Amino acid sequence: MAAVQNYSTKASLPGATSTTWSNALPFTVPPTLLHLPLPSSTWLATTAVIILSLLVIEQTVYRMKKGHLPGATWTIPIIGKFADSVKPTMEGYQRQWASGALSAISVFNIFIVMAASNDYARKILNSPNHAEPCLVHSAKKILQPDNWVFLTGKSHVDYRRVLNTLFTRKALGIYVSIQDSISRKHFARWLATAAEDPKPQPIMFTARDLNMDTSLRVFCGPHIPEHAAREINEKYWAVTQALELVNFPFAFPGTKVYKAIQARKVAHKWLELAAAKSKISMAAGNEPECTLDAWVREMQSPDYKGRKDFSDREMAMVVFSFLFASQDAMSSGLIYGFQHLADNPSVLAKVREEQERVRKGNRDIPMTLELLDEMPYLRAVVKETLRVKPPVTMVPYVAKKAFPISENYTVPVNSMVIPSFYNSLHDPAVFPEPDAFTPERWLDPNSSANQNPRNYLVFGSGPHKCIGIEYATMNIALVLANAAMLMEWDHVLTPDSDKVLIIATLFPKDGCQLKFRPRPRV
Ligand code: HEM
Repeated sequence: MAAVQNYSTKASLPGATSTTWSNALPFTVPPTLLHLPLPSSTWLATTAVIILSLLVIEQTVYRMKKGHLPGATWTIPIIGKFADSVKPTMEGYQRQWASGALSAISVFNIFIVMAASNDYARKILNSPNHAEPCLVHSAKKILQPDNWVFLTGKSHVDYRRVLNTLFTRKALGIYVSIQDSISRKHFARWLATAAEDPKPQPIMFTARDLNMDTSLRVFCGPHIPEHAAREINEKYWAVTQALELVNFPFAFPGTKVYKAIQARKVAHKWLELAAAKSKISMAAGNEPECTLDAWVREMQSPDYKGRKDFSDREMAMVVFSFLFASQDAMSSGLIYGFQHLADNPSVLAKVREEQERVRKGNRDIPMTLELLDEMPYLRAVVKETLRVKPPVTMVPYVAKKAFPISENYTVPVNSMVIPSFYNSLHDPAVFPEPDAFTPERWLDPNSSANQNPRNYLVFGSGPHKCIGIEYATMNIALVLANAAMLMEWDHVLTPDSDKVLIIATLFPKDGCQLKFRPRPRV
């Protein structure tokens, strides 16, 4: 997911305070004197001195914070590496990571420490007393400041404990049949579209639609009308766009952040209604059909010790946080899953062999948790596709206080500190041929991949580790398994197929051009 907490990207010069220059003078200036017109050359000289002093302060502060870390010796005045963050590229990140296990950059005077090694990444994620997640500036406006995802410390742990009950095996058992029927419905649509127009189509948006439909039905079940689900789906792209690393910080009409807030308002209206309907349905004694129902039912349980007074609005905010955390990451995971299987026909053949065997040749048999338990090869495929192209390559954290991250470097308070997941997942010592898609590496319990679980940072680590891991991996597995049973697909390679587009998460730059056709029944 894109992780949490507000971090202002407002430009400010270091050392500048709200004190105005006139009242900072060490002597009293007669008021009349301030109104006397100064010769324009004096104004110019004064302004130039002030600007120069600020620029010197800026460079001095940057160099003091950077210490011995690799990184530019001088920062570009005011904007720093702003240009690089407008259109981030994997190559750019890789250059930065290659410069050192810890390295420094500055963007709009926000001092940033990039952590490239697995040890540093884990240390950041597991030091809640020193560092906490922070998100792009827009996130707090979109999610609303009182969303649970912005909690830290004990209040975060307590809230999360309640939400963990929504992803138990019992709860996943409710979700699996929803996921199964929705994926089949969408594949039928994909095949119908392909029959009408056999040209390759990018699956960027079709996969996003499938994922949003699944999420809304899993989270809200029958408590959200079909037209509302469509409306939320259509508007949600505005939220994704507002998550770009650099966005205009004010939500003026017409800006991406403004459009995202409007999209959230629409979604919230329906999600609050869904929460209210779920409470009515559970009070009537119906069986739980979705996450909201599972939550309400859990609160009715005699063994339940947590809070029971969650308002419709709070429940809607939680569901929206799940959509927010999952829509882009899941879509990225699904799209690369399709791409990797198409590009590796021998792997796809093994997936099909396992499917045929476990489903006893019946492709119409609905997926269950028990069937998934019998599909180790499929699970290895999901683990590997998420490793090769981790949807979330890094999560920004902020140092709440001076953070002694290594023996000889302390991250200054209020700096951003960004652990890379990509390097942990592409460490050649743990994953030989790290860019190769090799699910087999997960099948041998003694393989270096399995012996080093601390490197598998796809879902983060520590108190903010992804809450939806089981649900996410189950969904990707199920979608790919059903696709493998029901469809054939060809990947039409373009010069951009292997290039990566970063919009909060990773996507193939050409949107992944696929041609689908029905898989013949034997
Ligand atoms: C392939 C799909 C997914 C990936 C790669 C992914 C990855 C991540 C990562 C890297 C984090 C940050 C962890 C950290 O800071 O240590 C995170 C947090 C989170 N994820 Fe996911 N995620 C995925 C799907 C989901 C789904 C489906 C849900 C909800 C159902 C979800 C809900 C969350 C939430 C709520 C958090 C914040 C947890 C907290 O702050 O306590 N994610 N995710």
